[in-house]
Amino acid sequence: MISKASAECFVYITLPGETSAVTAGKFVLSQNARNDAFGQFVYRGKYLDDPRAVEIDPVELKLSKRTYETVRLNGMFGALRDAGPDYWGRRVIEKHAGKAPLGELDYLLESPDDRAGALGFGLNTEPPAPKRKFNQTIDLEKLQALAEALVKDDLPNDPRAQQVQDLMLLGTSMGGARPKAVVQADGALWVAKFNRSDDSWNNTRVEYAMLRLARECGLVTAESRLETVGGKDVLLVKRFDREKTTKGYTRARMVSGLTILRADEAPEARQNWSYPVLVEEMRRIVEEPKKDAKELFRRVCFNALISNTDDHPRNHAIIAKETSWKLSPAYDLTPSTPISLERRDLALDCGDQGRYANAKNILSQHARFLLELSEAEKIVNDIRAQVEGTWYDTMRAHGVSEQDAERLRSAFVYPGFSL
Ligand SMILES: Nc1ncnc2c1ncn2[C@@H]1O[C@H](COP(=O)(O)OP(=O)(O)OP(=O)(O)O)[C@@H](O)[C@H]1O
Ligand SMILES: [Mg+2]
Repeated sequence: MISKASAECFVYITLPGETSAVTAGKFVLSQNARNDAFGQFVYRGKYLDDPRAVEIDPVELKLSKRTYETVRLNGMFGALRDAGPDYWGRRVIEKHAGKAPLGELDYLLESPDDRAGALGFGLNTEPPAPKRKFNQTIDLEKLQALAEALVKDDLPNDPRAQQVQDLMLLGTSMGGARPKAVVQADGALWVAKFNRSDDSWNNTRVEYAMLRLARECGLVTAESRLETVGGKDVLLVKRFDREKTTKGYTRARMVSGLTILRADEAPEARQNWSYPVLVEEMRRIVEEPKKDAKELFRRVCFNALISNTDDHPRNHAIIAKETSWKLSPAYDLTPSTPISLERRDLALDCGDQGRYANAKNILSQHARFLLELSEAEKIVNDIRAQVEGTWYDTMRAHGVSEQDAERLRSAFVYPGFSL
């Protein structure tokens, strides 16, 4: 645990095609005269001289000799925040440390190096050797039990207790709020997502079925599979930011939609959450703007048609395996069943009528997705027909019980979509 005074760390990066990290620069977190948290980042000269050097973030931290400064997000640059733990990881770290909350840098430094993307953090000028040991699927039962104990707050309050020590096995640096861990299987790394005992339906099976349904609708989705351990279901989602080579894992850079939007998660900052803005910002960064804009449009339609109202900007990302950026495969697709049959809202604005998950509204901004109106209408109609025709059979074919499928019936193609 770092002391409050030492608010600086080195930022490491695994360069494209490599399996170990180099030092990209230094991040310093301090307070300005008004007592606001104030972040500074500077690339290391040696890194800038390296012909293989790539930007750690295409939005805020392009390759340059300048000192970057920010007071937004408590002094955290978006790409650094993306690489840090989110609600779930913070909870694991706090329980492990036996206190909360911790400083922003503590969270970064305490999260082990299975974080999304290509960045790492540490107090030494040079990065540590890459981690070689990963959880295996055989460990899933233990990991699931640990996650459940944390959710239920069933763990001792003593940081020295073995169970509390073991918590770090869950990994803390994948984002999100739901209980999860990272495991290795079949020469790949996977995000293992667990059910919670207070879920209204079997979430892992439903999310698995949604990833399938999305594929049937023509979306590009993360690869996934279901495992049952000790009678409990676990969803394994293959990590699209890691690839196994004979030397180890390569790492793709990754930044979230939140960073692309230069936005925050605080409720008062949500007026900046917008798909049309996201697509415009993304178009300026990615290698194939037309292709990715169309794919994002499909995702907006799909989210509206399955009432995925938890489609917040961290559930979208761009990745760079080599030097160029592209939209990541879709992940975290979850239906919901709001009471209203007339109006449901996505998490982001999606058209002239704000967040309204409605075909006309979504179509109103077709041009910003680089689509002709007729092309956009065809996408809406095709996905609507596919979801309407197959949601039930796809859920049942992928292990969702009849009872859960019925519970979720009102999520699909809700009447307000076509008003
Ligand atoms: N297949 C994947 N490959 C790489 N990174 C991933 C993958 N799936 C998810 N992630 C990263 O992990 C984070 C958490 O995953 P996910 O969104 O599935 O979890 P969650 O807990 O359900 O999230 P939420 O809090 O939105 O409900 C994502 O925001 C993304 O950064
Ligand atoms: Mg998520």
